[in-house]
Amino acid sequence: MFIVLEGPDGAGKSVQATRLAEWLCVRGLTVVQTREPGGTATGDEIRAILLQSDHLHLHAETEALLMSAARAQHVHEVLLPALERGDAIVCDRYADSTYAYQGGGRQLNMEQLAVIQHFATGGLVPNLRILLDLPVEVGLNRRHGDAGQINRIDRESLAFHERVRQTFLELAHADPSSWTIIDASADIETVTAAIRIAVVAHFHLAVTS
Ligand code: TYD
Repeated sequence: MFIVLEGPDGAGKSVQATRLAEWLCVRGLTVVQTREPGGTATGDEIRAILLQSDHLHLHAETEALLMSAARAQHVHEVLLPALERGDAIVCDRYADSTYAYQGGGRQLNMEQLAVIQHFATGGLVPNLRILLDLPVEVGLNRRHGDAGQINRIDRESLAFHERVRQTFLELAHADPSSWTIIDASADIETVTAAIRIAVVAHFHLAVTS
């Protein structure tokens, strides 16, 4: 079970990832909860370069390669070993974030990004991607409500964030069997319930509370 939560900034992915991981643990699964960029010591160092506001000069190509470099380390150090052990994975962002942010947001070439993703991941793809979708203004207002959370990418224009959101929606609509779209502007409990329903349906789990 390799589940990824995706979506624009401020969608509440990290809260929902924790809730989902805890819920799967209660159901008897061993769960690895992780996130990108990051998830390893090397990845966390790359994350610091990517998100610090004093790296405003970072080129789009550099950004895409650093996101993918952190991902390669994550795949080999954390994700593949977890799957080999038979653990479930709940991951906050994965390769589709690169398509949405660097492809949609930065308008880099999608085919080239796909080649880089294949190289970085060795072709490892999630079995379920959950898109926590919400209007850009709502997400950014949530982020700006907590000034300490604002990173270099949050500071991009509204048009950038709108392209990110639209790209996520296009990816999800293009492959409905591996994506679920959830309205993340709803309250936390409603979103949590919707995620559980999606996971139960996708993995044919027995229905419990
Ligand atoms: P983070 O603070 O983790 O944001 P969030 O809570 O919204 O996930 O910062 C991660 C940022 O990095 C976020 O703005 C999305 C961006 N990102 C990319 O641009 N490309 C990627 O491949 C990934 C994984 C993240």
